[in-house]
Amino acid sequence: MSAQPETVRRLTVVDIARLHADGVRIATVTAYDYPTAQLVDEAGIPLILVGDSLGQVMLGYDTTVRVTMDEMLHHTRAVVRGARRALVVADMPFLSYASPEDALENAGRFLRDAGAQAVKVEGGVRSARAIEALVKAGIPVMGHIGLTPQSINTLGRTRVQGKGREQARALLADALAVQEAGAFSIVLELLPGQLAGAVTERLRIPTIGIGSGAGCSGQIQVITDLIGLGTWTPRHARRYADVHGVILEALRGYRADTEAGTFPGEAETVLMEPSVLDEVLGRGMDDRAPAQLSGIPLDRDL
Ligand code: KIV
Repeated sequence: MSAQPETVRRLTVVDIARLHADGVRIATVTAYDYPTAQLVDEAGIPLILVGDSLGQVMLGYDTTVRVTMDEMLHHTRAVVRGARRALVVADMPFLSYASPEDALENAGRFLRDAGAQAVKVEGGVRSARAIEALVKAGIPVMGHIGLTPQSINTLGRTRVQGKGREQARALLADALAVQEAGAFSIVLELLPGQLAGAVTERLRIPTIGIGSGAGCSGQIQVITDLIGLGTWTPRHARRYADVHGVILEALRGYRADTEAGTFPGEAETVLMEPSVLDEVLGRGMDDRAPAQLSGIPLDRDL
């Protein structure tokens, strides 16, 4: 009897709400491809964001503003294929939710064509109408306030948001607007720890912090920062591995072995029946070049 493939149930926003209600801090990470999504699932992480940070960390753009719907859809499909359990949130790229109509059309593509279970939009009060339209249409939404990288051309640079009175008040209003619009969770990016904690205390929905301290309901990190794939790590991130070093060592080893002719070796080479090749080349056994017999010890009596 052949083994049945293991059935894995995909988590939903109801599961995320339950984790939050049970006091579980929600570990979230970005992923952009199939093998990484598989690993995230294997690690038991419940929530994946296919972030538009894709643009910078995977595609080499200078900002997330350059990322297109087609690029996001392509990578979301790969992540959905890789992760069978985690809830996959797709990041709505710049200008893809400028109006509620655009938001519906583009979010629909993420769920229908790419298989995501939810979308994320940046902005608080200013995005509340779009969030409401999506939620009413049955599309779960993750909000995102604080540093919103798609507004980099307005903000000027990447820095902590909400240190001053007015900005802190505005961020609190943003968080409440996102919750009232029906979002199931909200990312707080680069908020002072105390403000993020205060926002978290005032919301029913989980706050997912990045660079906003330990008082959030969960954390999100960009996968490349977390595993140490790049050479630079932001101050708020912790490098849990040195994948950059591991890959570099592997590549240098491969190059050295290739240049020395020690790769591939016998173990990595498939041989064919020598007589078949003799026939193909139209030669007798005596014409065989010794080199053709690699994989067979030369001192063996043929
Ligand atoms: O695009 C992204 O990776 C994000 C996270 C940093 C929250 O928006």
